[in-house]
Amino acid sequence: MATFTLPKGSKVSKQGQSYKADGAARIKRFTVYRYDPDSGANPRYDSFEIDLDNCGPMVLDALIKMKGEQDPTLTFRRSCREGICGSCSMNMNGRNGLACTTAIEDLKGDIRITPLPSMSVIKDLVPDFTHFYAQYASISPWLQTVSPTPSGKERLQSPAQREKLDGLYECILCACCSTSCPSYWWNSDKFLGPAILLQAYRWLADSRDEMTGERLDELEDPFRLYRCHTIMNCSNVCPKGLSPARAIAEIKKMQVERHL
Ligand code: SF4
Ligand code: SF4
Ligand code: FES
Repeated sequence: MATFTLPKGSKVSKQGQSYKADGAARIKRFTVYRYDPDSGANPRYDSFEIDLDNCGPMVLDALIKMKGEQDPTLTFRRSCREGICGSCSMNMNGRNGLACTTAIEDLKGDIRITPLPSMSVIKDLVPDFTHFYAQYASISPWLQTVSPTPSGKERLQSPAQREKLDGLYECILCACCSTSCPSYWWNSDKFLGPAILLQAYRWLADSRDEMTGERLDELEDPFRLYRCHTIMNCSNVCPKGLSPARAIAEIKKMQVERHL
């Protein structure tokens, strides 16, 4: 259920630490959301100056430099540095994206970094994905069949059938789309959101899956599917160039067609 004001303990209280890059010729200032539940203090913003001549080109490079040289307690997720694992998703200057594929030079002025919107924060830039992953598990994201495997080997697809998974299998579950979606902000307890619905469609579109009817039954719900109002934030923000809104539209179309 949506709340329209932040709880008392979640309000950003004051400007925190400032870290300088004295003597640097090209400086970029980052304002970074900080929250440590163990301190009992409200969140704050710390300011980090980064010497661009001694930093890699991406926002993640700057975060690693801040952690390595200025404040080792700064906490964020990252793994692949290649836009593959989805773990460095965060909000940069008001837009969700992957820190490892977002170039510093593409962000104008000072750069404000906050965790993905609308999720609970565990620490600093690390959001709590527990509910998101539970929603993912709820759509049974694996191949389900009832018929025996033809000839006892693998289930084959034609090139045309395989092509139907393009634009779906590439999803890295970063949640940039779901946490950009106003419907998900207000109703994430019941609405599955664009990322999970795109994943649901990935199995509906798979020619080998034999649970299409059951999957559609599970989604036929005023909240789980139909809270999408085609606002399109999800497709505008996906760092992999995917269109969850299109996948959602395809699910709605399948729901209509099976009742004709
Ligand atoms: S198209 Fe649907 S899922 Fe995507 S942002 Fe809009 S309401 Fe959310
Ligand atoms: S659809 Fe795009 S934005 Fe959404 S979770 Fe997948 S990769 Fe991330
Ligand atoms: S570190 Fe893996 S997507 Fe950014």
